[in-house]
Amino acid sequence: MTSVVILISGRGSNMASLLDAAASGALPVRIVGVLSNRPDAQGLQTAAAHGVLTEVVDHRLFAEREAFDAALAETIDRLAPDLVVLAGFMRILGDRFVRRYEGRLINIHPSLLPAFPGLHTHRRALAEGVRIHGCTVHFVTPDLDHGPVIVQAAVPVLDQDDEASLAARVLVQEHQIYLLAVRWFAEGRLRLRDGRVRLDAPQDDSGRLIVPQSPLG
Ligand code: GRF
Repeated sequence: MTSVVILISGRGSNMASLLDAAASGALPVRIVGVLSNRPDAQGLQTAAAHGVLTEVVDHRLFAEREAFDAALAETIDRLAPDLVVLAGFMRILGDRFVRRYEGRLINIHPSLLPAFPGLHTHRRALAEGVRIHGCTVHFVTPDLDHGPVIVQAAVPVLDQDDEASLAARVLVQEHQIYLLAVRWFAEGRLRLRDGRVRLDAPQDDSGRLIVPQSPLG
């Protein structure tokens, strides 16, 4: 079975939805560890409650990013995962780290990339007045938030939205599409070849863009 390591920095709701799906048998993966760069990440407790091994590689203990990346890679490699899943992991990873896990390192980003890479995506989407916002799962490349797109989900932006309401609408979709992407990888349907995503998913779920029903009805 595909083994997975999840990297988090905070709340860990994406991680929790993956852990739940794996525990219920709905997702054919074995989550062999959850790593955090922050000892106080809330998600570490959730993972431990699931009986999953947790480890902290505290970035503050490393003067150089390369040294942190190397320690993180060493911790990951001890668990020998097939797939490394970034789920709200808030450190930029260096080129060397990214290349080491090429084709088996994925991230979720709370915007429809290539729009709004970086931080505060919901605030920026509201400030720009976009009508459609969403989230993206992509393979990680050395370019921050710019890797090949695996799956996206779109949500409407409503007139009465604030940052919190928009973030909550997007988060529901994040949990859905991250499960999809991890499932496709586990089933051998998803690969990165020559820098492009190759997806061999069945007709009924191969749509890369999922537009959920509008809350306006
Ligand atoms: C999510 O919005 C994710 O897309 C972003 O950081 C947030 C993490 O949330 N990268 P959680 O820790 O999974 O609850």
